[in-house]
Formats: sequence, structure tokens, C-alpha cells
Amino acid sequence: MAKRPPKSAADFIPPRPTLKTAREASKGCRGCDLWKLGTQTVFGEGPRGATLMLIGEQPGDAEDLSGHPFVGPAGKLLDRALADAGIDRASVYVTNAVKHFKWEPRGKRRIHKKPRASEIGACRPWLDTEIALVKPRVIVCLGATAAQALLGSAFKVTQHRGAVVPSPLAARVMATVHPSSILRAPDDEARREEMRRFTDDLRAAARALSSE
Ligand code: URA
Ligand code: SF4
Repeated sequence: MAKRPPKSAADFIPPRPTLKTAREASKGCRGCDLWKLGTQTVFGEGPRGATLMLIGEQPGDAEDLSGHPFVGPAGKLLDRALADAGIDRASVYVTNAVKHFKWEPRGKRRIHKKPRASEIGACRPWLDTEIALVKPRVIVCLGATAAQALLGSAFKVTQHRGAVVPSPLAARVMATVHPSSILRAPDDEARREEMRRFTDDLRAAARALSSE
């Protein structure tokens, strides 16, 4: 008997999608097994004509419960950095490489678990749909998962953060650290320094936007 082709989100994308119909359809996605673990699909949010798109890894605990991207501790930090960089979050399209929260229990808490390459690949059609519909001029990958999904598995955020990389996805693509990594800084001084560098990267993205 012929084997069923590997599943992905592609099977769930509506014909001639709009952001609205895609978001609605994503609620029923079974493109990989992560839907069983998460409370709900967390689709991207922001204006259709956003010129800047930020891509994280996957929703966290707060995002899983609320259904909105970057609303938990990492999201609060992102909001602060965007404000410091002079970027209005309401003008930005914010999304994730993977749309369900992958976690494992630790006591009563749900601890973030890194998505597999196969899960990132399975979810990619949603991200490609968002990029095709929003058509951002600048994309910023937040952390290694988004960066490697968009820029290739050899991409190292530590070496190439803040650099504008050629890509067919948008006029300018760059990667920086994930805001969660700043929350994990060992002390206040390191956290302040990491926050400063992160804000500088976002500022460079805003500059790339105005020079485009
Ligand atoms: N981390 C992410 O990568 N995305 C979110 O939406 C929240 C935390
Ligand atoms: Fe679908 Fe992505 Fe959720 Fe997997 S993680 S079920 S591909 S929305």
C-alpha cells in the first residue's frame, strides 16, 4: 500500500488564503503532533501591511493560554526593547516559526521544549503564508530556531547577529537573539548589556526599513 505523504500544515491552508482565513484555518491544524500538547494554535498578529515582521520560536506558556504571540515575560521584554528602539509594536507583524507550544511537565509547571526540525518544517507553510500575505520589507528572526528555519541550519546567531543577510523572503533579513535568552542572563549587569545589544539590533532593523 502506498505510504501517506508526510503530514504538514500545507494540508490545512485554505485556497487563496487571507490572513483572516488562514488564522481561522490554523485553529484546526493537525500538521504535526504538537496540536495534542498545546491548548490552541497561536497564529501571528499585526497589520496586513506591516513593513517589519518579527519571528520567534514558538508560543510559551502565557501565549498558549491566551492565544496571542509574545504576551508573556519574553513578550514584555520585547515590548520594552521595541519601545526603546522607537518601534511601535502595533505596526509590526509578530509571529513564530512553530504555532503550538511544545512543553514538558516539571512539577506543576510546563517547561518549554525545543521543537524538532520536523515540527518546524511541518509548520513552515503557515509562516510562508504569513510572509506571502504581509510581504514585510524587513524580517527579524528572534533566536536560532527562527534564524535557522529561514536562513539555513548553518546560520549562527552568535556570529552573525544584526547582519543583514540576502534572502528571497524579504528585501532585508536579519537575526538577533531570542528575548528569552536575555531573561536567562546570569546577573543584572549581563542582562542590561544583553538588552542594550538587542535594542541596538532592533534599531538597526528600523534603520534598514527606512533605507529600503
Ligand atoms: N517565545 C517565542 O518564541 N514566542 C512567543 O510567542 C513567546 C515566547
Ligand atoms: Fe500545525 Fe504547526 Fe501546530 Fe504542528 S505546530 S499542529 S504544523 S500549527
